[in-house]
Amino acid sequence: MAGMKTMKILVSGASGLVGTALVRHLKQQGHRVIALTRSTPGQAADGQVDGQVDTIAWAPAQDWIDQAALDALEGLDAVVHLAGENIASGRWSPAKKSRIRSSRVEATALLAKALAACKQPPATFISASAIGFYGEGHNLDETSRPGTDFLAQTCAAWEAASEPLAGVGTRQVWLRLGIVLSPDGGALKQMLPVFRLGGGGPLGSGQQYMSWVSLQDVVRVIEFALVNEGVVGVYNTVSPNPVTNKTFTQALGKAVHRPAFFPVPAFVIGLIFGEMGQTLLLGSAQVFPRRLQEAGYTFEHPDIGPALQALLSG
Ligand SMILES: NC(=O)c1ccc[n+]([C@@H]2O[C@H](COP(=O)([O-])OP(=O)(O)OC[C@H]3O[C@@H](n4cnc5c(N)ncnc54)[C@H](OP(=O)(O)O)[C@@H]3O)[C@@H](O)[C@H]2O)c1
Repeated sequence: MAGMKTMKILVSGASGLVGTALVRHLKQQGHRVIALTRSTPGQAADGQVDGQVDTIAWAPAQDWIDQAALDALEGLDAVVHLAGENIASGRWSPAKKSRIRSSRVEATALLAKALAACKQPPATFISASAIGFYGEGHNLDETSRPGTDFLAQTCAAWEAASEPLAGVGTRQVWLRLGIVLSPDGGALKQMLPVFRLGGGGPLGSGQQYMSWVSLQDVVRVIEFALVNEGVVGVYNTVSPNPVTNKTFTQALGKAVHRPAFFPVPAFVIGLIFGEMGQTLLLGSAQVFPRRLQEAGYTFEHPDIGPALQALLSG
């Protein structure tokens, strides 16, 4: 982007699926990126923060953040907050659910308080949230009511937790992400081996809606929110064309040139994945990116067929 101001940006969750792609892009654009991470240099972690990036430590589970290091940055243009316990890895035991919630709600409160306490609080705070906010439903947009299940309650509390930043004039943006598609991680990476063997198929009835978004679009939406000061509040970050699981299955089969006729019955998903499977694999949420489109954002990947072809051709 010619003429764009160079920014100093703190990224939490920088070692994750979205964070890795975002940090790479921001560095290409010439920005200074600092990663807020739980891992200390040399320590084995789930993911690894790009070795070229400066880091600041925090331990949200212990309610600790390196406040002195934050202060020493002397002002951030923006914070992009992506950290949180992965929700799709493994069954939702009570301990896992507690980590899913506290790694979002308490960690966000800790970060927001620390940023608000800086001599120069950040100009902009952009955080991930999820379309899980709505629970199940059709024709959902940002005006729709919150759901009532575990994820919906978690998302609502997560978004509310950045409240300390409201008092210091920081522009706050919440991106309610849909299913992020990338061959490098997340839902698509987990499905690919089975589909490549020709063993893919619809889940349950296949009639449930999947509101998806390509990883490239997520990175571009974050950049859009960084540079456009008129972007404030919540934005559904999903493609404008959500599809049923059946349509998705057909598109993925086509993209890998394999049949995808093997349905997985709902009860099997329930047995294997429990509540996680009921919510993430069988739940139906048809969500539209109304506010992003009103703000003038144009999707690179608006349609599932071409999106999967592009993602899997590399
Ligand atoms: N991928 C999707 O389809 C999707 C959909 C909807 C919403 N989202 C949300 O978007 C955000 C980014 O997604 P992602 O797919 O990039 O996530 P991810 O790959 O699971 O990475 C999240 C990062 O958060 C940090 N983290 C992990 N467990 C943590 C814990 N217990 N406490 C604090 N930090 C922890 C890790 O960074 P360090 O090890 O460096 O600390 C990790 O790299 C997440 O909040 C996710 O809920 C993602």
